[in-house]
This record gives sequence, C-alpha cells and structure tokens, in this order.
Amino acid sequence: MNRPNGDKWLFTPGPLCTSDSTKAAMLHDMGSRDVAFIDTVRHIRAEIVRLANASPENYTCVLIQGSGTYAVETLISSTIPTTGKILVMENGAYGERIAQIAKIHGIPCQLYSVPEDEHHSTEELDRILAADSAITHVALVHCETTTGILNPLAELATVVKQHNRILIVDAMSTFGSYVLPTEELGIDYLAFSSNKCLEGAPGIGMVLARTELLKQAEGKARTLVLDLFAQWKGLESNGQFRFTPPTHVILSMRQSLLELEAEGGIPGRAARYQANNRALRAGMAALGFEEYVLPERQAYIITTFRYPTSPAFNFELFYQKLSDLGYVIYPGKVSRADCFRLGNIGHLTLTEINGLLEAIKTVNAEIGLVLHPVELALA
Ligand SMILES: Cc1ncc(COP(=O)(O)O)c(C=O)c1O
Repeated sequence: MNRPNGDKWLFTPGPLCTSDSTKAAMLHDMGSRDVAFIDTVRHIRAEIVRLANASPENYTCVLIQGSGTYAVETLISSTIPTTGKILVMENGAYGERIAQIAKIHGIPCQLYSVPEDEHHSTEELDRILAADSAITHVALVHCETTTGILNPLAELATVVKQHNRILIVDAMSTFGSYVLPTEELGIDYLAFSSNKCLEGAPGIGMVLARTELLKQAEGKARTLVLDLFAQWKGLESNGQFRFTPPTHVILSMRQSLLELEAEGGIPGRAARYQANNRALRAGMAALGFEEYVLPERQAYIITTFRYPTSPAFNFELFYQKLSDLGYVIYPGKVSRADCFRLGNIGHLTLTEINGLLEAIKTVNAEIGLVLHPVELALA
C-alpha cells in the first residue's frame, strides 16, 4: 500500500515518514537574517528546553547544521578539555561511535562495554569511577538503536552524579517520545536531531547544554565548524547561525513541533509509539519472528528480529518484496547474530502497522516461509 504521493512507508530508525504539513512547511524561501527566521530559531530553541524539562535559567539549546552525529561530534570535540577523559558506556554502534569520535580528536577514552542486548551494571560503573579520578565525562546512549534496547538512564545518571562527573546522553532516538527529566537527573548535555521522534525533516543536530558548563567550553574546540560554544554565542548574540543554516529544515521543524503539541506533547506521542510498538511486536510474534532483546529491556522505538532459520528466508529478497509492496524495513546492526529491524516511529499509526504485518504475511507465502507463532510476554 503506497502512500497517496507514491512514497513508501518507512519502518526505519530515520529518516522517517513525516506529515504532509511538515513537508509543506519547507516550500518557502526565507532569508537567514530575516526577523521572521530569527524568531523561528529562537522559538525552536526555547521549545526544546521546555520539552527537555529543563529550566531556561540553567539550560540552553544549540542547533547545529547536519545530522545527529554532527551534534555528537560537536559536543565531544569542543567541550572536553585537553585535560579531560571520557568514559563511554557502550552496548552498540552508537556508543562505539562516541568512542571513535574521542579517538579521532585525541581525547583519552575508556570503554565500558557490555553485549548489545545487555545493560551496564551500576555497581561496575561506580567501581570504575571510584578507581579513576582522571575520568571527567561519562557518555551513554539512551536507546541504543543498534538493537532497540533502552538503557537505564536514571540509575546510571545517579551513579555518575554521585561521582560528580559530567554526564553526556545521546538521546537521538528518544527525544520527543520519552519524557526526559533532564534537569532532575542532572544531565549536563543531551544530543539529538530533528528527524527522529520530533518527526521533522533531517538536517539539524541539536545539543541541550547546561549553560554554565557550555560557557567553560570557550576556546576548547578542535575544529572551526564543530564548535558548540561559538555556535551558541552566535545564536545568543544576534539569533543567527555562524554559517548558512538549513532554512527549509528549520521551517519544517517549527511545524513538526506544533504537531507534537497538538498530539498531546511527548506523552501523547509516546502513547502512539507504544501502541504501534505493541501491535507490531505482537503481530510479528504471531507470524513466528523472534525478538533479539528481552522484552523488559526493549524501548518502544525499534525492534530487532532474528533471521528465521528456515532456508526459505533470504533478507535481500524479503526486503525487496516488502519494498515493492510499499514498505521499507531496515537491516540489522547486531554484531553477533543475523537480524533485521523494524522501527515504529515517525508519522505512522496502527493502520500502517497492520498494513506492514499483512504485507509480511503475503511475502512469507510467496517465498514459502512457514513459521510457527512464538510466545512474547509484552512488558
Ligand atoms: C542513538 C543514535 N545515535 C546517533 C545516531 C546518529 O545519527 P545520524 O545518523 O543522524 O548522524 C543515531 C542514528 O540512528 C542513533 O540512533
């Protein structure tokens, strides 16, 4: 079932399906120094601080041209001083990417890795921080999109704050769909982007920063472009970006934030994604697909399914046939098992979830894939 405009439905971790009104908002050319544009940027930055449950006195939002990784690299490379050291809590590709960024910029980095379907232990984190006073920053990924696991942010944040270290959270795939008590948890920096649960067009990375800390980052950037302090200074002083902003994407972002509010804010969006996720996972279990992550660790964002062991299953063929029916799914990223992933975020409802499940049933029959329903205890 293709969409009215012929596009396919995207069951991916992003970019995602967006509403027609969000796309239509981009059909305007606006000068980057125009008062209306500067007001839009100001409005978006204030909205983000509010959505993060952070007070405008203590936190600020910096917009960065680029995808989510641009925001993460800007944050890591321009706020950690030469005397700093980062501990990265890794259980997937995006944790690894933070470590890779640190390495490229010559920032001392220690990895605390656990398997991709497991959680880090608060006791071990406590031990690592107690043993190494050189660690100044701790980074963790809230929902590791590699598998769809939801990491225990509140518990880990408590330990980091007990040790008085700076806490960096990659909230790329949760900002906009999980209520994040940023200030209450003592989070110092959050990184995310326009095109995931905020359901905007891709093109803006964002960092929510504790303002007092950000001020201390002056002069610490290792590159010209990826400089969080300088970018913030520009936005604060005259409301302008230092370099050409993605004006159309900013306009679409304003619209997508209005639509988030109309849906009931983050709780409203969370309810839709939870319903999508439950229906998708229950339907996949009934079709005989096994999940990779334990149900109690699973976020309501994206789910990893193991390849069926039947010789009738071939991912490329399965993918292509679903795409021909108008549904785009996503390959796996897990290092230890053959898997594929289905996202349930973006402008999707139960109608599209049921459409995808029907399409999978059709494809299974075409390729002769016979599976038996599996048990799934939905949390
Ligand atoms: C948790 C997480 N971090 C970082 C990224 C990188 O974002 P981007 O691909 O927009 O650079 C992603 C993208 O899926 C992600 O899911």
